[in-house]
Amino acid sequence: MPLHPFLVKTNAYQLIKIICRPFYSVFRYMEYLSFVKKHNAKGQINDYYNSSATYKNRYQLHESILTKLNNKSVLYYEFGVAGGDMIKYWSSHNTSKDSRFVGFDSFEGLPESWEDKEKSHFDQKGNFPDIPDSRVSFVKGWFQDTVYKTLAQSTFEKQCVFHLDADLFSSTLYVLFQLQPKLKPNDILIFDEFSSHEHEFRALEIFKKCCNDQWDFKFLGAVNNYRQVAFILKSKS
Ligand SMILES: C[S@@+](CC[C@H](N)C(=O)[O-])C[C@H]1O[C@@H](n2cnc3c(N)ncnc32)[C@H](O)[C@@H]1O
Repeated sequence: MPLHPFLVKTNAYQLIKIICRPFYSVFRYMEYLSFVKKHNAKGQINDYYNSSATYKNRYQLHESILTKLNNKSVLYYEFGVAGGDMIKYWSSHNTSKDSRFVGFDSFEGLPESWEDKEKSHFDQKGNFPDIPDSRVSFVKGWFQDTVYKTLAQSTFEKQCVFHLDADLFSSTLYVLFQLQPKLKPNDILIFDEFSSHEHEFRALEIFKKCCNDQWDFKFLGAVNNYRQVAFILKSKS
């Protein structure tokens, strides 16, 4: 039925868009809840349901991964660094001299608003965190300008830990697709705002589909009611 000429001519689509938008978001939220249901009580750490969730608990998830790695040398890539709390944590807890820790950020804050945070939130005025460790380095700029080039010049033989902490759907999806050719079994992916179902969760769901569900994202754990979630990649047999 050729309804669309009518909708376009009358601008009625604008109204329908406004009416339907909340339903779209509810649908996404239900998808996210089905993820929670599927993984409930699984993983090496899982605090669901935690009535006293606090952002500080995210260290428990990272600690459990660091313990599993047992100070093995790794490549730790963090997408979204801001003040550097997590890259500092990883570089001080993994002391292998061959490990490398690379942080990507504009250091000018978010390129668009995210949930209740305005565009430019997390702005560091262009400054890197001060981490006196030669194994740590930073790549400044928008991911869309820096990630492709940097990944092309890097080697990925070591086990990698990819920490996705850019919050936004657009930034997370972009990074996932750039990482796709580099991924290998046993690489670890950590999402810092996974429960932001319109953003990091949605980006991962789309990425998985676009890769023909090539990877088994084996669930490692979640804290803060699935706000922070980690996976280890396994080949599908
Ligand atoms: C939540 S903060 C990172 C927090 C940090 N990982 C920590 O543990 O404290 C999100 C960061 O992502 C960065 N970011 C988001 N999208 C980006 C993009 N497309 N390019 C560069 N930086 C981006 C923002 O500048 C911001 O500093």
